[in-house]
Amino acid sequence: MSEPQPRDLPIGVFDSGVGGLTVLRELEARLPGERFIYLGDTARLPYGTKGPQTVVRYAEQAARVLVQRRIKLLIIACNTATAVAVDHLANVFAPLPVVGVIDPGAAAACEASRSGTILVLATEGTVKGGAYTRAIHARRPAAHVLAASCPLFVALAEEGLVEGEIAELVARRYLDPVLATQPQVDTLVLGCTHFPVLRPALSRVVPRDVEVVDSAATTATVVAERLNSQTLDSRRGQVRGPQTQLLATDAPDRFARVGAVFLGRPIAVDEIELVDL
Ligand code: DGL
Repeated sequence: MSEPQPRDLPIGVFDSGVGGLTVLRELEARLPGERFIYLGDTARLPYGTKGPQTVVRYAEQAARVLVQRRIKLLIIACNTATAVAVDHLANVFAPLPVVGVIDPGAAAACEASRSGTILVLATEGTVKGGAYTRAIHARRPAAHVLAASCPLFVALAEEGLVEGEIAELVARRYLDPVLATQPQVDTLVLGCTHFPVLRPALSRVVPRDVEVVDSAATTATVVAERLNSQTLDSRRGQVRGPQTQLLATDAPDRFARVGAVFLGRPIAVDEIELVDL
């Protein structure tokens, strides 16, 4: 049998858990001819409260599993891992193209903001590293970037508690103090791939005229452009139904149950392969 051409290989995507499925959802919609392999490192979630060296090590191990299965492009569907490991992974796995979610998220924020005052909600690790502030300033040097770490959002999202009293109370606890003192904020960036599922709760807390953006759609656009410019786009044309392989490092039943909310379609437990890193 002849070797598959690079453009016929799948795209690898990873996150610490189910959060990156919000990115995968956009990718499946935007690139229906592509195949994907998604890895959720559920055994070691959360990444957001861990130190940078640990996250770099975890990210490299997760990426290696995907690279060993042969992929044509790697997507880091985790802001925390992107913040600390995007350059490292691009070096280690060169010439494989590597796309993170922070630049696309920053682009979406700059596009949406009129006042230039942007509030980034993210994990502790992402906020500490300042990667969003740098990425936004690279596009819009005069922007006023504020950031708040919201670690409980990851737990709520993983628990499927995406709306209702508890989610709303937590959202208020994180957002009210910032919005009360910084009324000029007109754009809120969901700088963690776990956060988009919390939009219903956030919409009750955030003033209506504040634009809420995440990096999922812009990441899918960046990937589409990259595939095209590197002649890596699949030649299969549109195929019927998603062509996605799902891997998890722990608890496939939980991954299936909670992941369905993030991916926007049911996931059967036997679709998920358990892997050890
Ligand atoms: N989904 C990850 C991100 O985008 C963070 C969740 C975690 O803390 O592992 O930052």
